[in-house]
Amino acid sequence: MIAIRKNILTEPELKNAIHSYDIIGDIIVIRLHPELEPEKERIAEAFHAFYPKARTIVAVPLHSHTEELYRTRALDVIWGAAKLETTHREYGCIFKVDLEHVFFSPRLSYERQRVAQKVAPGDTIINMFSGVGCFSILIAKTQPQTTIYSIDVNPYAYEYMRENVALNKVEGQVIPILGDARTELDKLEGVADRVLMPLPEDAYSFLPAAVKALKTKKECMIHFYAVSTGSRADNLFDTPFERVKDIISCEDSLRLEVEEKRIVRSVGPRKYHVVLDLRIAFV
Ligand SMILES: C[S@@+](CC[C@H](N)C(=O)[O-])C[C@H]1O[C@@H](n2cnc3c(N)ncnc32)[C@H](O)[C@@H]1O
Repeated sequence: MIAIRKNILTEPELKNAIHSYDIIGDIIVIRLHPELEPEKERIAEAFHAFYPKARTIVAVPLHSHTEELYRTRALDVIWGAAKLETTHREYGCIFKVDLEHVFFSPRLSYERQRVAQKVAPGDTIINMFSGVGCFSILIAKTQPQTTIYSIDVNPYAYEYMRENVALNKVEGQVIPILGDARTELDKLEGVADRVLMPLPEDAYSFLPAAVKALKTKKECMIHFYAVSTGSRADNLFDTPFERVKDIISCEDSLRLEVEEKRIVRSVGPRKYHVVLDLRIAFV
């Protein structure tokens, strides 16, 4: 990154430099400050010199709008082929994605692995917002004795999930479901040992449905994702946890504890995605 910046940017440009970039399969996604927009072709050439195997380079404005439901962003192809379908490899899994139509972030790779490591043999899991199936497939491969109901409302994400399930040979273990998580969870009441809620912007409103999907006779877990504001030095977890308690622990019959909490990634100035691993038992 530093080398790329120094090769192509003047000192004043460095101040507003390329914020960051991701490599997804053979596509490079550059988050570009608006002031660097006129330089984007020059920047793309420099990236390509550095990564000659890249097929396509796209730019996404630094604080670009994210489509509310499917969580996709408008991407500007600045170099190479316009096709945004690619195949990404992560922790021994293969994920086929089309960046124009589905959400995918390699920055969640550690988080996906962290959750997969927690899963126990025999667990039934619901992934409420599974995208192209990344969490679900990694869990299935890490812990073969599991069943994962894997829901997404985006028809493109669902089709790629089906394809990825086959590519990774986890058919029958990961069950792709196309639909709204709230409606689909009505059919899965009381079945889950573990529920994943990777929709930080809106997970609160789905919490009651997630709790209803848990088994009532044992301790279960919800991996709850939220957006928290503040600095890294602040306690970024109290406010989300208080909100969670307000929503679900109104019932006396429910015991709620945080097993683990962590900052997943920074998503803007003083804005972080955080996760709370919530241990829940009905008493
Ligand atoms: C942040 S992405 C999830 C990423 C995914 N877990 C991964 O690791 O790549 C959120 C996903 O939730 C889906 N989604 C949003 N609202 C939904 C709903 N009501 N029911 C089911 N899926 C929904 C979006 O289509 C999107 O694919």
